[in-house]
Amino acid sequence: MSQAVDEIKIGGLGASRKRVEDNRFIRGKGNYTDDIVLPGMLHMEILRSPLAHARIKSIDASKAWDIPGVRLVLTGEIMATRNLAWMPTLSYDTQAVLATDKVRFQGQEVACVIADDPYIAKDACEAIVVDYEPLPVIINPTQATAEGAPIIRDDKENQPDNVIYDWEVGDAAGTERAFEAADLVSKLELHYPRSHPSPIECCGSIADFNRATSKLTVYMTTQAPHIIRAAVAMVAELPEHMIRIISPDIGGGFGNKVPVYPGYVCSILASILLERPVKWIEDKTGNLISTGFARDIYLKGEIALRRDGKILGVRMHTDADHGAFFSDAQPSKFKIGLMHSAFAAYDVPVAHLTARGTYSNKAPGGVAYRCSFRVTEAMFFQERMMQAAADDLGMDQAAFRRMNFVRDDQFPHRTPFGFLTDSGQYAKCLDVGLKAIDYENFRQQQAEARSRGRLLGLGISTMTEPLGAGNSREYDILGIKMFDSAEIKVHLTGKAIVRTGARTQGQGHETTWAQIVAHELGIPAEDVVVEEGDTDTAPFGMGTYASRSTPVAGAAVAMAARKIRAKARKLAAHLLEVSEEDVEWELGRFYVRSAPDRGVTIQECAVAAYANMPDGMEPGLENTAFYDPPNLTWPFAVYIVTVEVDPATGVWDVLNMVAVDDCGIRINPMIVEGQIMGGLTEAYAMSSMQFITFDADGNCVGSNYMDYLLPTAWETPGFELHSEVVTPCPHHPIGAKGIGECAAVGGPAAFVNAVMDALSGTGVRNIDMPLLPDRVWEAITYRRDISGAPPVRSDE
Ligand code: CDP
Repeated sequence: MSQAVDEIKIGGLGASRKRVEDNRFIRGKGNYTDDIVLPGMLHMEILRSPLAHARIKSIDASKAWDIPGVRLVLTGEIMATRNLAWMPTLSYDTQAVLATDKVRFQGQEVACVIADDPYIAKDACEAIVVDYEPLPVIINPTQATAEGAPIIRDDKENQPDNVIYDWEVGDAAGTERAFEAADLVSKLELHYPRSHPSPIECCGSIADFNRATSKLTVYMTTQAPHIIRAAVAMVAELPEHMIRIISPDIGGGFGNKVPVYPGYVCSILASILLERPVKWIEDKTGNLISTGFARDIYLKGEIALRRDGKILGVRMHTDADHGAFFSDAQPSKFKIGLMHSAFAAYDVPVAHLTARGTYSNKAPGGVAYRCSFRVTEAMFFQERMMQAAADDLGMDQAAFRRMNFVRDDQFPHRTPFGFLTDSGQYAKCLDVGLKAIDYENFRQQQAEARSRGRLLGLGISTMTEPLGAGNSREYDILGIKMFDSAEIKVHLTGKAIVRTGARTQGQGHETTWAQIVAHELGIPAEDVVVEEGDTDTAPFGMGTYASRSTPVAGAAVAMAARKIRAKARKLAAHLLEVSEEDVEWELGRFYVRSAPDRGVTIQECAVAAYANMPDGMEPGLENTAFYDPPNLTWPFAVYIVTVEVDPATGVWDVLNMVAVDDCGIRINPMIVEGQIMGGLTEAYAMSSMQFITFDADGNCVGSNYMDYLLPTAWETPGFELHSEVVTPCPHHPIGAKGIGECAAVGGPAAFVNAVMDALSGTGVRNIDMPLLPDRVWEAITYRRDISGAPPVRSDE
């Protein structure tokens, strides 16, 4: 009889183990950047531009220098003496660290003061006098590309206009032919408004340069410590081995903490100049007006259709507003992220995407906010276009999607833009969702309610997200190939430590990586400690964003564990005095094939690795695996929402929401559910209440939590989650696919589609997000579409 350990009892794969990191978080014992206090530490504050576009005539910092307690005032001029006034971005552009010639967005960094405490530094910022000459302002792609538009990036050679890139992918001629052959062409124009990842903890850094050792240690809020170390080495021209980046506990990242920000660079230079630790902690307004925005993109979409509902081709054109600097963190090859993952779940024969990126006088934007590089926008556009197409055909929403899905027997499937999807059960997920929402019954209720003047609606959204960049063949950031790594050290007593190059920001890696080790080695998860975020100790990795941790770093953990198991097998053979070929494995234990009662545990093998290894064997039980995934992982989900819209006020209430997520094997079902609920909450926020817009002068409206709304438990509807569809990833060592972002990616279209469905028959085809009640009311009352971000009421 098997003597294997019980996988669920030891917290292995499939165990809903409580998050170990919560022990410290719920006790208030987390260790965030702002909790760290170093001896002799100084504090830095940033002076930001009040204007969106202006030439800097002069900066007079003399009064700031005179304030007692001020140690240093940094301006662009001083930064320039160190070649640090500008820095490279992760998208091969340049970004001003501190403005020298012009300011290009409201909130841009103009000067920094370093002082004995943050209050002195803040007061001193206010004593700096900057003489600005205002310039005309550009706040959207139409203005950016208008005849005679002012050139925002006149600092750059060969930049005669405000266009950053014109990029295309797909088959233009084939798509043209498909449209010529179509019975019907469905068209839709959409805007995905600018939003902000808005982690509760803002950005910050503490730079500590030690002249005696020449070592620079930086504690900072980064999702990608090794990438930052490489960037600091390049920007500050310091040797990489003399830089240690430590990313302590992070209070949420969502993509906001991937880019390199001027505050990081200034605190580093200040510490080098002053030879003292320098701390910079951004305030909420600074975070909201100057750090990585997301979305802000316009779509012109067309689907070529056969009368029976078959999609013949898709055409998309996007216009992305990147703000003043193109600083997206995304794979170099793809200018508009993975927008071309659109329609990957549908059997679309041919497609063509053109994308244009432009500068504007807004903060640098386009970060992947809880998504794999623009996949949120791609899926939103896709599912809004699908709804419009079904309406144009007069076809049932569910039937239209089902007939166009990639079928289970079509995998591996080449998408119209060239990705290779490898697995999924799309129709089954839809069926589970329709059953859960009681689809037919709801349609009857809807018709009946309509006859009494009540507006009920049902929205379907599906999503498949390419998660786990790379493979290194196709994915790199600044030329650094995308892969990941993990290191496992099994101690003498059979306890272990795992380190990866990923960096958890609330996702629970400390819990789930230990579960992978438990699954592979049979060591109880509670005997495994996980450490991430210190470049001096963690193996190289690309960091955590784009839900890539489980697909890449998690896979590396499994592969490292398998190397450990291979060595443990040799130790077991030695202990059991049989040849290695005669040794069998069951969870937690090796045994002799012909005598299953004779066995040794993995813990006994660990002791032997240090105390009783065979002659000639290298002692110890440690290993590292670098994992370069053969493909992305492709989770799939169906989200269905029912709503009731009040025609008198435009207020809409969610009646029911069903989520069917297939992310392959779930390591920790409870954590997965938490990820889905969080994502759906963000999706609800984006569709119902969130936007950051700008007035005609480029003033950012949405610089605080009175204007930029985060949903609380009070507003957030309940969600019904379904986990019965499981399609293991064929190439991931444990069959897992990413999940962290899926619900935030696929959710928004479900809410919007539900409201639009409620309005069907009113002649309203589209309301752009957010679906604020006044916008919905206006659409119903005047029977017209509402396009673009909400207008800003002028100050008069
Ligand atoms: O990269 P990020 O951690 O944001 O996303 P992820 O890899 O999708 O993982 C989010 C959390 O869900 C991690 O704790 C994962 O280990 C866990 N997860 C899981 O338990 N099962 C999966 N199939 C996928 C993720």
